[in-house]
Amino acid sequence: METLTLTKPDDMHLHLREGDVMRDVLADSARQFARAIIMPNLNSPVVSTGQALAYRQSIIENLPEDIRASGAFEPLMTLYLTEKMTRDEIIKAKESAFVHAVKYYPAGATTNSDSGVTAIENVYPLLEAMAEQNLPLLVHGEVTDADVDIFDREAIFIEKILSPLMDNIPDLRIVFEHVTTKDAVDFVKQGSEKLAATITPQHLLLNRNALFAGGLRPHHYCLPVLKAEEHRRAVVDAATSGNPKFFLGTDSAPHARAAKESACGCAGIYSAHNAIELYVEVFEEKDCLDKLEGFASRYGAKFYGLPGNEGSITLEKNQWQIPDSLPFGESEIIPFRAGETCQWKMR
Ligand code: DOR
Ligand code: ZN
Repeated sequence: METLTLTKPDDMHLHLREGDVMRDVLADSARQFARAIIMPNLNSPVVSTGQALAYRQSIIENLPEDIRASGAFEPLMTLYLTEKMTRDEIIKAKESAFVHAVKYYPAGATTNSDSGVTAIENVYPLLEAMAEQNLPLLVHGEVTDADVDIFDREAIFIEKILSPLMDNIPDLRIVFEHVTTKDAVDFVKQGSEKLAATITPQHLLLNRNALFAGGLRPHHYCLPVLKAEEHRRAVVDAATSGNPKFFLGTDSAPHARAAKESACGCAGIYSAHNAIELYVEVFEEKDCLDKLEGFASRYGAKFYGLPGNEGSITLEKNQWQIPDSLPFGESEIIPFRAGETCQWKMR
C-alpha cells in the first residue's frame, strides 16, 4: 500500500468555538495536528490575555484524555483586536508566551466581527506596539464596504488597507489569512519577509461554481467566499510551490447544521474532520507530494518562531467515505465533502 509519512503538521488557523460543541471538533484537530492557532472570535471575543488563558485552559480540559495526558496538542492562543485595546495589553500578551498573535477583523466582515476594527487608523498605535513586541498580526483581508462587489473584497483590501499598512509599519509581521485570489498570492510573493499567508482546503479544492452546483449549497459558503477557477489555480500553485511564505491554515469553522441551512446562513466550512487528507489530495493531484511537509509542518512554525514538531503522522492511500454528518454538542454538523470519498486515510 502507498503510504506517506510527515512530520506532525500544525493548523495555523482554526475555530474551536466554546461550550459543549468544542469537545467534538477539537478531537478531530488534535488527532492530526500538533498545534493550532486558535481564532478568538467567540460570541464574547477573546480580547485580553486573561481571557486567552481561560480559553486555553478550557481547550486543554476538552482534549481527548490520551492527548491531554501526553501533551500531544498545544493550542496557540490569539487576541481579538479592538479599538479599545491598550498598548499594555499587547505587552502583556507578548510576555504571556502563550498568546502568539492578534487577529484583525474588519467590523462586519464575518462571524462575530461586530467588535472588530471600523478604521485601521484607529488601531495604528496598537499595531506599532505589536511591531515593537514582534507579535504578529493576523488579518481577515476583506473590505466591508457594501458597494464593493463581494468577489473583489480581498483585492480592494490589499490596495486600501494592507499595502499602506506595510508601508507605514514595515516591521510588523503579518499573516494574510485564507488567501483566495491571484491578487493576494502575487502580493504575498512580492512582499517582504515579514508577510506570509495561510491557505484553506476549500480554496484549494473548490471554485465559486461549487456554491451553486445544481442548487444553492450552503455548506460551501465561507468567507472569503470561493473565487473563480483562475484564482483557485493561483492559490494551488502558491501552496504547492515550496515557497515558505504559504502555509497550512484550515479555517475550519463549524456551525450547527440549522445555522448553515437557513434563510440567512452562517459562513464557515467544517474541514477539521479530514483536513490533512484533503491537503494530501491537492498535492498529489499536482504531483507535488514532496512539497507537502514544508507547507503543513515547517513553514508556519518557522514564521511564528516555534520549534519543529517531534512526532510524525502516516497516511495510507485508501478510499473511505466521509460521514454525512457528525455530532456537534446537542446538534450536528455537516463536514466538508460529506458523503463523498476521500482518497487518503490517516493511520
Ligand atoms: O467562513 C468563515 N467562518 N470565515 C470567517 O472569517 C469566520 C469563520 C467563522 O468563525 O465562522
Ligand atoms: Zn477564520
